[in-house]
Amino acid sequence: MIASQRAAAPSLQDWVSRVVREDIRALSAYHVADAAGLIKLDAMENPYELPADLRSALGMQAAGAPLNRYPDPEARELRELLCRLMQVPQGIDLLLGNGSDEIIQMVALACARPGAVMLGVEPSFAMFPLVAQICGLRFHGVPLAADFSLDADAMLYAIAQQRPAVIFLAYPNNPTGNLFDPTALERVVRASPGLVVIDEAYHPFAQASFMSRLGDYPNLLVMRTLSKLGLAGLRLGMIAGRPEWLAQFHKVRLPYNVNVLTQRVAIEVLKRGDILEEQAARIRSERMRLSVLMQNLNGVQPLPSSANFIMFKIAAAERVFDALKRRGVLIKKLAGSHPALDGCLRVTVGTPAENDAFVSALEASIEEVKGGHA
Ligand SMILES: Cc1ncc(COP(=O)(O)O)c(C=O)c1O
Repeated sequence: MIASQRAAAPSLQDWVSRVVREDIRALSAYHVADAAGLIKLDAMENPYELPADLRSALGMQAAGAPLNRYPDPEARELRELLCRLMQVPQGIDLLLGNGSDEIIQMVALACARPGAVMLGVEPSFAMFPLVAQICGLRFHGVPLAADFSLDADAMLYAIAQQRPAVIFLAYPNNPTGNLFDPTALERVVRASPGLVVIDEAYHPFAQASFMSRLGDYPNLLVMRTLSKLGLAGLRLGMIAGRPEWLAQFHKVRLPYNVNVLTQRVAIEVLKRGDILEEQAARIRSERMRLSVLMQNLNGVQPLPSSANFIMFKIAAAERVFDALKRRGVLIKKLAGSHPALDGCLRVTVGTPAENDAFVSALEASIEEVKGGHA
């Protein structure tokens, strides 16, 4: 066959268009900012490292791990330890995931019957609508009240209209940092025809939980993660709920989703759980100090927070964000991501030195932006 007879090869872009789902092509991938060389206060990580003796013990665990074998698919030892430490009530089981992000995906996949709806609030954690979309659920977001509290009446109305298969509510909420009124949440759980997942990712800093209420509501589940407690790199999340629900989620869970190193390291660190608890306590007290420092800056309005981050309102938020970055501090720009977040930025609580550096850089950035020489 001579070259001119050959059908013109499609461009790779056309090929991608023919093969990949249209709605996936329309999405933007979850963006993670490059923090190289910056003070990293953008991702709600614990800024403290583990003590050297524990790190050595983890090295021994890694060295002794049977990497030639698949991990325990049920992660029994780790699950039992977690159930005890998290005071998971009798009759309630625990399912583990590669971070709680994976658990959101498992729940969504299991619930994605044709036409199924995931309900949430706005603004909240970006992965809820993103995972809904990927898994084929329609996401319906109910606006929070002007003070970012839960609008219980609006929620109940949306539940009646949408009949959601699953509701995700972060408690405390990200990015606003507040805890919703527990009575309002219970009204939501009672009115819901499907599942309600209370996402307690920031539990170590809030010290409020629905874990002990799991026995009261058959459709309630509580999700947690080790990420914010200090093990973000390990990727371990968990969901507690009735075995009848978890049995279904297990079917969409890929086998061996929690690898052998994660299982071993998590067990070793959790046996010394007091270390992480002590770090969380330091972060909680730093949160208070940081909030006061921010309040003292002209034009900065920090919101009360029950998490390890503080959302704040400020004039010219985008320019202040850029100026902070030029000064070597990376935080999170919320302005532009949702109309309710106009003028908002979010800073993670770091070490005292990091927080001081942030406050100085914020003060200088405000001056710079005011002076117009940004
Ligand atoms: C509310 C909420 N849930 C879940 C997560 C994800 O946590 P993980 O690291 O366990 O996937 C985050 C991370 O920022 C979050 O803010």
